[in-house]
Amino acid sequence: MTKRTSQILIVDDDKAFRVATSALLQDAGYTVSTASEPKEALQKIVEGNFDVILSDLVMEGMNGIEFLQHIKNKLPQQLVIMVTGFGSVKTAVEAMRLGAYDYLTKPCSNDELLIKVQRAVEQFQHNQELRRLKELLCTSTLYSGIVSQSEKMKEVFKLVQQVAETDVTVLVLGETGTGKELLARAIHYNSIRRDMPFVEINCSAIPESLLESELFGHEKGAFTGANKQRIGKFEEAIGGSLFLDEIGDIPLTVQTKLLRVLQQKQVTRLGGNSTIDADVRLIAATNRNLEEMVTNNQFREDLFYRLNVFPINLPPLRERLEDIPLLAEHLLEKHRSLTRQPIEGFSPSVIHAMMNYDWKGNVRELENLIKRAIIKAGSPTISQIELPRTMQEQHSMEKVDLPSTTLLPYRQYMEQVQNDAEKKYLSRILKESKGNLNQVARLMDVDRKTVYRKIEEHGIEVEKFKE
Ligand SMILES: Nc1ncnc2c1ncn2[C@@H]1O[C@H](COP(=O)(O)OP(=O)(O)OP(=O)(O)O)[C@@H](O)[C@H]1O
Ligand SMILES: [Mg+2]
Repeated sequence: MTKRTSQILIVDDDKAFRVATSALLQDAGYTVSTASEPKEALQKIVEGNFDVILSDLVMEGMNGIEFLQHIKNKLPQQLVIMVTGFGSVKTAVEAMRLGAYDYLTKPCSNDELLIKVQRAVEQFQHNQELRRLKELLCTSTLYSGIVSQSEKMKEVFKLVQQVAETDVTVLVLGETGTGKELLARAIHYNSIRRDMPFVEINCSAIPESLLESELFGHEKGAFTGANKQRIGKFEEAIGGSLFLDEIGDIPLTVQTKLLRVLQQKQVTRLGGNSTIDADVRLIAATNRNLEEMVTNNQFREDLFYRLNVFPINLPPLRERLEDIPLLAEHLLEKHRSLTRQPIEGFSPSVIHAMMNYDWKGNVRELENLIKRAIIKAGSPTISQIELPRTMQEQHSMEKVDLPSTTLLPYRQYMEQVQNDAEKKYLSRILKESKGNLNQVARLMDVDRKTVYRKIEEHGIEVEKFKE
């Protein structure tokens, strides 16, 4: 399938401007339509699908501001660049307030015009992508708000589907912040027990002395301070699921008791005599390496085997970077109310930076970053400035390996370094653009000729980057 070229509409009663600008934009690879007066333009806008409209501010029949309002009423998302005559900056500001994307002051240089159009086209493409993702979001939240489109997560969902309906014990493994708790809920709410309680207990948050009574309950007078009978989490979860979070942090003494309960499927409250049948589906999670803990005698082997019936590994975010745009959109939606300011989305460079970052704290780290960015945002589009500095740096610094021939004369050495860096840079952009040279030119902000020349200079095979 050939990719649709970007469509631009030029609306201006000045024929010379129309002709010159059309030629300029066509040379740059855009498909251009023109209209000489607002009525004709509105007709074309309704029929066509323009990425960007370049419109004059002063026209006969309708002024540019009225024209803009007409467009925005019909198509609120339409990107419009207003072209103003010299000295009408005030009106240009008014146009921006009414939703124009940008403005140009005549006479303007070709470069300025091309840059502004290109920026608007990028914004258009970005908005399109977001719309697509939003639609996808609606269909992918089947699993209790777990958002994902990556192959690795599809594998996870397959496992969830296989196991959810059964009563099998599930062990969810994954680094911190990968969504273990979310997954545990998804398993419960996709099981036949979904109308029964989902009870969770964070084993690392409860002091050892209280953990047992939290899990199994106690009778009045079972120990000093036990002045009332108390139901444990196991009992609470009867008929439903019990989520033992951070299971790797359970002390050995409690491990022994837990094992017994799992073997007998019965609990006895501390200080009690009678046993209670505990029909409970168990889901456990940990970010620790339980096998290693078994080897180090920190975790009982028999308990490990009881829990490790059906392990599900949640991949770290850095191994499913393609989930980031969707997750970012979802998390923005989730925390939008943190600010009163309307926030529309992220600039393409922010998404790019996010996809080049090593997310040690996984989705939780991404979520925190987005919350901070929402609070800091100075405009409707979250931009790079709102990212933490470390991330901006990690993104902007391309690693350059120095050639080993350090004994070359300075000039030659620098040439070689530059050459290597350029080749790496090109390869990376080609990879990102899947070999689409128009996109490469756009990302590099140079013309296609330069791209061809550079590719040839470095003997890069573009085919290798096409999918
Ligand atoms: N795939 C996802 N889609 C949407 N939100 C997610 C996803 N994965 C994680 N989150 C969100 O990220 C945050 C962290 O997720 P969660 O608490 O489930 O992780 P965890 O693996 O249990 O972390 P920890 O090991 O630190 O307890 C939560 O706010 C959760 O809603
Ligand atoms: Mg957790």
